[in-house]
Amino acid sequence: MCGIVGYVGEHEPDGRPLGVVLEGLRRLEYRGYDSAGVALVTGAGGLATAKKAGKLANLTGLLEEQPLPGATAGIGHTRWATHGGPTDGNAHPHVAGGVALIHNGIVENFAVLKEELIADGAELLSETDTEVVAHLVARAYDEVKDLGEAMRQVVRRLHGTFTLLAVHADHPDTVVGARHDSPLVVGLGDGANYLGSDVAAFIAETRRALELAQDQVVVITPRSVTVTDFDGNPAEGREYTIDWDAAAAEKGGFRSFMEKEIADQPQAVQDTLLGRTDTQGRLILDDLKIDESVLRSVDKIIVIACGTAAYSGHVAKYAIEHWCRIPVEVELAHEFRYRDPILDERTLVVAISQSGETMDTLMAVRHAREQGAKVLAICNTHGSTIPRESDAVLYTHAGPEVAVASTKAFLAQITAAYLLGLYLAQLRGNKFADEIAEILDDLRAMPEKIQEVLDRSGRVREIARWMADTSSVLFLGRHVGFPVALEGALKLKEIAYIHAEGFAAGELKHGPIALIEPGQPVFVIVPSPRGRDSLHSKVVSNIQEIRARGARTLVIAEDGDEAVRAYADEVFYVPQTPTLLAPLLSVVPLQIFACELATARGLDVDQPRNLAKSVTVE
Ligand code: F6R
Repeated sequence: MCGIVGYVGEHEPDGRPLGVVLEGLRRLEYRGYDSAGVALVTGAGGLATAKKAGKLANLTGLLEEQPLPGATAGIGHTRWATHGGPTDGNAHPHVAGGVALIHNGIVENFAVLKEELIADGAELLSETDTEVVAHLVARAYDEVKDLGEAMRQVVRRLHGTFTLLAVHADHPDTVVGARHDSPLVVGLGDGANYLGSDVAAFIAETRRALELAQDQVVVITPRSVTVTDFDGNPAEGREYTIDWDAAAAEKGGFRSFMEKEIADQPQAVQDTLLGRTDTQGRLILDDLKIDESVLRSVDKIIVIACGTAAYSGHVAKYAIEHWCRIPVEVELAHEFRYRDPILDERTLVVAISQSGETMDTLMAVRHAREQGAKVLAICNTHGSTIPRESDAVLYTHAGPEVAVASTKAFLAQITAAYLLGLYLAQLRGNKFADEIAEILDDLRAMPEKIQEVLDRSGRVREIARWMADTSSVLFLGRHVGFPVALEGALKLKEIAYIHAEGFAAGELKHGPIALIEPGQPVFVIVPSPRGRDSLHSKVVSNIQEIRARGARTLVIAEDGDEAVRAYADEVFYVPQTPTLLAPLLSVVPLQIFACELATARGLDVDQPRNLAKSVTVE
């Protein structure tokens, strides 16, 4: 939520800071697109700002009409509104005295601080909590004449979550940042340094990044990066190399990032599997860094996550319980957090998050650790907060996911969770080595099969275009097909704004079947007839039940399953695969369906209304 960029470079005032900041904002726009703004320090005591409600294009249009002067440093912001509607006035940066400031997060005690400022004669122009902070920093600066120190004094007074960046007209060579429960990374350049909500902000400029801990303030100049805690004690960030490909963060000829990311899925799964076995074919999860004895003693697993990431955990539950014989619970992080869960040192909590910054999941991680559980993160983003605060991490290698609706990260999360399950089975001796090797072989075959599903997607696209005016779609599945149904429905509602519900097929008769009326489209995910026979036949019966009531049945089945044809208005076949791995295939037509249908409705599939990629507020 909210994208933040800061840049300072060693040059005479010129156009580069604005260029770097705008490019960073372009790459971060998926984090929020209610408004965008920039502030530049123009040298010789000048500050220039521009901001505009709506997408970044509105700001760039404004800048073309009213260009800003050259600069040495700059900050930029793309907003997902919290306090105050998405207007020009509420857009960031907010300026007070010589300070321009941008903010991601929520300052919970802003009302008290605002009253204090007003009583002291300050004139506030917006409805935002951010403007309050800008005034506080400006006042502190007037006292101490040091922007880093002013920031430290102010952040000690703030409650809530925040990343803040500030520049001051008198300091053309400085940008100051601070973070508390909200993301901020430093990019290290040569004669230039960068700040960003995530590395996408400066990926085109440098591959060297510095991870900051919570509650730190960082002051960057062209040749220095100084990190302290909120009290001013020196601190150090952890330097790492960004392994994401800058080109991966571009659309590469596709109509949308979502379409590209769906197409990237074979690679995402392959990269997540890569390098995770030794020469004997045994699984090695080197990056896990958690004691094997701890993993051997685990007697319960709780997956905590939100949205699509939670559905990946839901899929993994079936596999991990089957392979490891350990009970697995899956819980939405925001529910888990306010519960009194029964955990101890033998509970392994698995936090799944693409961004590594989802506040609900982060809070649940803290809650779990406070109760003595070990937390293992499955995460796609190096340098993010959730892995940092967990005991161990297993990275997915999906590359940057830009579209707000998660696709390739979902498949990579399922893959990583399978690896974890197999690793636990290997460690605990639940499975023989040859059985594990066989499942790994099946997993290694998945990228090619996913590609095949992509190659066959013509028909699902065609149907999606025909159905562009549909007002409601239902999704049914059993066993691992159930979370796939939930995910199919989520994709459709979030990007096409169509009513969509996913149900466990067995639940139909307990209520949802009342929704079926003639013409109601229903996707049904049919399990393999080569698996448990009863499971397949139960789902086929469910198709018959809804068809008898007039539903239009759109069936996803595996190659060779001729039995379903008789009851389906449309069958989308996917390659044969073992039941537990099938979600990696069956979800793909549903992603394509949602993407194509939303595109046909003329919607912006990458930036759906009211949403943001990384939900850093609770
Ligand atoms: C849906 C979607 C969201 C995220 C959820 C968790 O397409 O993207 O439901 O899955 O907000 O995000 P992360 O994985 O970043 O914690």
